[in-house]
Amino acid sequence: MRFVLLCLSLTLTASPSLGQQALGLVAPEAVANSGLLQHILPRFSLKTGIRVIADEAGEMSLSAGPEGEPVFARDGVVFYLSITEDSRQERFRDWLRSDIGKRTVESFTPDQGAPFSASFEVAQDQIELVIDGNVILGEELSMTHCGRCHVIGPKNRMNGLGSTPSFAVLRAMPNWSERFEAFFALNPHPSFTQIEDVTPPFAADRPSPIHPVEMTLDDLEAIIAFVSVMDAADLGAPLQLQ
Ligand code: HEC
Repeated sequence: MRFVLLCLSLTLTASPSLGQQALGLVAPEAVANSGLLQHILPRFSLKTGIRVIADEAGEMSLSAGPEGEPVFARDGVVFYLSITEDSRQERFRDWLRSDIGKRTVESFTPDQGAPFSASFEVAQDQIELVIDGNVILGEELSMTHCGRCHVIGPKNRMNGLGSTPSFAVLRAMPNWSERFEAFFALNPHPSFTQIEDVTPPFAADRPSPIHPVEMTLDDLEAIIAFVSVMDAADLGAPLQLQ
């Protein structure tokens, strides 16, 4: 019995991917040709039982950014890992960013060229700039598309419709992001909102009663970026009656 159990556990550890598909990782040539992946991927698999393989059609990808999270750098280029929402992929990302993962990256000696570094300065400026750009665009889009009814901020404080919640009030709700992500499906918006490639056209017998809001999902993303950094209303304060 003991022997059988031992064999069983050996089989289990020896084939960690048992029953589970390997995760694919897309890597730029500079990484793929360096030998780094052959060094780190088996070590990760041994630790976690999750198999990751280099795969051009993989669901995870390494790139020179700026999307994803910075994981290692070489010759001044920072590589970022992008994953999709999946617990095994998250585990890989977290491992790469852990002390052990970093040590594993840095313990690799390439045949040619400089070693990879896992402790590096990410150019914060660049990242903030990207976010800021989106935030500013998001504020403009909010004013254009939503400011007719919602108070967006001080700039249109007097213009909103009294019965419509201000963005600051919506921002104070715990699930504000879900509401914004789905606003086009929440009343009263469907009757006048068109999101490219998302919403069906207005029914022929029910045209938009007002000048329609026409926008893209990218626009909505920018609006959400703006709302995410705006000050939420203090709902604990006494209600200000108009
Ligand atoms: C024509 C007026 C109008 C326009 C334009 C408008 N809204 Fe609204 N919105 C409303 C009203 C009215 C409500 C309140 C609905 C309620 O309380 O049932 C609302 C509610 C919301 C809510 C909360 C929905 C919920 O059910 O939780 C969100 C989020 C929202 N709007 C986002 C937006 C965004 C983003 C835009 C611009 C892209 C926008 N709205 C444009 C009138 C408008």
